[in-house]
Amino acid sequence: MNKKEIYKTIYEETLNRYQTRFLELGVSPKTLGWGKVSDQQIRFQAMADNYDFEGKTVMDVGCGFADFYAFLKSKGITCNYIGVDIIPEFLACAKNKFPEAEFIEANFMLESRELPKADIVLTNGTLNFKQTFISNMEYTEDFMKLACANAEEAVIMDFLSTNLTKEYPKETQVFYHDPLDVLTMALRYTNDVKLIHDYPAIPQKEFICILSLQRD
Ligand SMILES: C[S@@+](CC[C@H](N)C(=O)[O-])C[C@H]1O[C@@H](n2cnc3c(N)ncnc32)[C@H](O)[C@@H]1O
Repeated sequence: MNKKEIYKTIYEETLNRYQTRFLELGVSPKTLGWGKVSDQQIRFQAMADNYDFEGKTVMDVGCGFADFYAFLKSKGITCNYIGVDIIPEFLACAKNKFPEAEFIEANFMLESRELPKADIVLTNGTLNFKQTFISNMEYTEDFMKLACANAEEAVIMDFLSTNLTKEYPKETQVFYHDPLDVLTMALRYTNDVKLIHDYPAIPQKEFICILSLQRD
């Protein structure tokens, strides 16, 4: 399979996974694969503590129900939010809740060039599934490259860490990223990289990588 075929296959798998869950569970963090709302809030808070979103154009790739936008709003942070996802049902819920924001149905891996540019391109939870048709690190590298091409200022990505929480069993369907590998990858795009690995496990240990892009 060539890259385009691989990304089409992953798209179909992803569509099926989330649409099945949505039919079962409706609008819930569990549909997105998250444990509970408070876990999401810890992740979102770690992002907001480490980057200033105020007044920025923020493209949230794999936005789900736009819970990150809801979080920013709840903290009084104003931004121009663009939510991108492949699941029309998620986007319809998000649009209904936040008519002032922009929502676009697109597969980022194949259609990023048609998307608008944004100050910040971020993603939460899109890189956690173990891939079968491509190595996860290649998938992550492709994502990072496309995100950097769409971002004017910064790319922000979250990962599950190989530095596992001892009490939490490793999940077979999940890909855990080595923070050092992600750091090395990010440093190929910019010298200005922040890796945040110090927020509470929720319940698995995660980290966030922030690439500040130097644009002339
Ligand atoms: C784990 S959920 C996280 C949702 C949201 N970011 C949050 O934290 O609440 C991952 C989301 O990414 C979306 N997604 C996965 N691959 C994608 C792709 N290639 N392009 C756009 N969205 C994608 C899925 O449809 C799903 O809504």
